[in-house]
Amino acid sequence: MHPLQCVLQVQRSLGWGPLASVSWLSLRMCRAHSSLSSTTCPSPERQEDGARKDFSSRLAAGPTFQHFLKSASAPQEKLSSEVEDPPPYLTMDELLGRQRKVYLETYGCQMNVNDTEIAWSILQKSGYLRTSNLQEADVILLVTCSIREKAEQTIWNRLHQLKALKTRRPRSRVPLRIGILGCMAERLKEEILNREKMVDVLAGPDAYRDLPRLLAVAESGQQAANVLLSLDETYADVMPVQTNPSATSAFVSIMRGCDNMCSYCIVPFTRGRERSRPVASILEEVKKLSEQGLKEVTLLGQNVNSFRDNSEVQFNNAVSTNLSRGFTTNYKAKQGGLRFAHLLDQVSRVDPEMRIRFTSPHPKDFPDEVLQLIHERDNICKQIHLPAQSGSSRVLEAMRRGYSREAYVELVHHIRESIPGVSLSSDFIAGFCGETEEDHVQTVSLLREVQYNMGFLFAYSMRQKTRAYHRLKDDVPEEVKLRRLEELITVFREEATKANQISVGCTQLVLVEGLSKRSVTDLCGRNDGNLKVIFPDAEMEDVNNPGLRVRAQPGDYVLVKITSASSQTLRGHVLCRTTLKDSSENC
Ligand code: 5AD
Ligand code: SF4
Repeated sequence: MHPLQCVLQVQRSLGWGPLASVSWLSLRMCRAHSSLSSTTCPSPERQEDGARKDFSSRLAAGPTFQHFLKSASAPQEKLSSEVEDPPPYLTMDELLGRQRKVYLETYGCQMNVNDTEIAWSILQKSGYLRTSNLQEADVILLVTCSIREKAEQTIWNRLHQLKALKTRRPRSRVPLRIGILGCMAERLKEEILNREKMVDVLAGPDAYRDLPRLLAVAESGQQAANVLLSLDETYADVMPVQTNPSATSAFVSIMRGCDNMCSYCIVPFTRGRERSRPVASILEEVKKLSEQGLKEVTLLGQNVNSFRDNSEVQFNNAVSTNLSRGFTTNYKAKQGGLRFAHLLDQVSRVDPEMRIRFTSPHPKDFPDEVLQLIHERDNICKQIHLPAQSGSSRVLEAMRRGYSREAYVELVHHIRESIPGVSLSSDFIAGFCGETEEDHVQTVSLLREVQYNMGFLFAYSMRQKTRAYHRLKDDVPEEVKLRRLEELITVFREEATKANQISVGCTQLVLVEGLSKRSVTDLCGRNDGNLKVIFPDAEMEDVNNPGLRVRAQPGDYVLVKITSASSQTLRGHVLCRTTLKDSSENC
């Protein structure tokens, strides 16, 4: 136990060696152990005496019999009834947000954007207000990312800026509270509290339900942390709040954590074991989004296609898992449960006018049922993210990806045969431990061979706790990593431009998002392959109302004739407004 923690509870093993030691839940009740005094951490007797007096005075000031009668006849306000019972050291009033204004700032992946909405949904129910104005905030929460060193450095820099805001805060206002949420809280834990004394709250990715309590503790000037990882938290019952009323698309989290343990990746350590959200709760959220008029849903998770809903006994038949040909896993084969193909089928039936995407999958989990479904169903986008990470079998083995270059390429061919016209994207890491020039050339050649439509390319960043950190050497010099990364980017762009030019002359269905960022006379939307399409804002015919001339609005489906293509964007002109069902793309 860390000496600074007066209360440190709940140690829970998560089954893995390294993870067993990372889960802890603590309330830092004293600022400095060395100066433990009766005022900061009173003796047990004095604590008891104080608690008795405190209890008596709270009881005296508590509700009267009439109050109970009143609350029995009138329904409780939603706000307080939804907040769980307070822990014994807090009152319900302390647990509520008391209209404090929260400013949330998100870093990193889409999962963090979704987590931000989950955290907000929990705080809103607890009586907090949200502000988009930093100066107005009483609580600033940063939802953080640890995937690469650079991502963490950004947060440290931001904390320095916020420090000034905290120290300059006038005494007439309630003190500003600052919280670190997400992966960085999980990875660095007390290091953050020790390094940055101005941080009041730490909440790991599975601890957002505890935010009202953590903030209540912080109100009294103490630091509070919960970085306990869970085996089953999926926030299934927490519906994220749609904050952008004009949004056309939404992300729906279907699972959390990752069991793959790729040797370079920190995610299994910061987000814990893989667990899936029950299908029923996912469908409920998708239905709600459809009723709100949203036209696109992206199913979200670290490893979406290994989805497995085991929430009901009857789902646990012993059907074994079909991996893609030539792929293996780093974990013992799992059995039973409702799988990704089932979920995709159900989700796509909710609303035929709603586009369905998913990210991020692992190449190992693409059984034929999934490919068949993507091919058959009009509203499942023909777009697959297939993170390769490297084109060298030797490096892939060191990364523990569970496939060789050959197996990956065979899968690409199989996907292209099964889903003609499918758009492919990928992730690559340049300069992984032991990567030679020859390995790098292999990655360049894979980029040329597959010709992806989209790509996400990164320089390798060694992360503590990972297998690569313990077993391998980060031996590619920084300048070599960057040079190789530049080369990958150049090749990717050349190939993507060629791949996207195939669309020139075609008519494509585009979901309109709004005005283009670059020009107020242009609109912007996305095609089925998730590529940005820009076209002039012009009048057009509505196929369902012949003779009616309309202008496209966000959320409309329009047919666009593509006239030019670059590595990242398509351009064209709009032909008509249509529906997903009625649309007829011509290539
Ligand atoms: N260094 C660089 N890139 C990484 N990724 C994951 N871990 C690291 C790391 N340590 C990349 C992978 C992954 C994407 C989300 O981030 O390409 O697919
Ligand atoms: Fe990280 Fe690999 Fe899991 Fe993706 S699949 S989150 S890269 S461990």
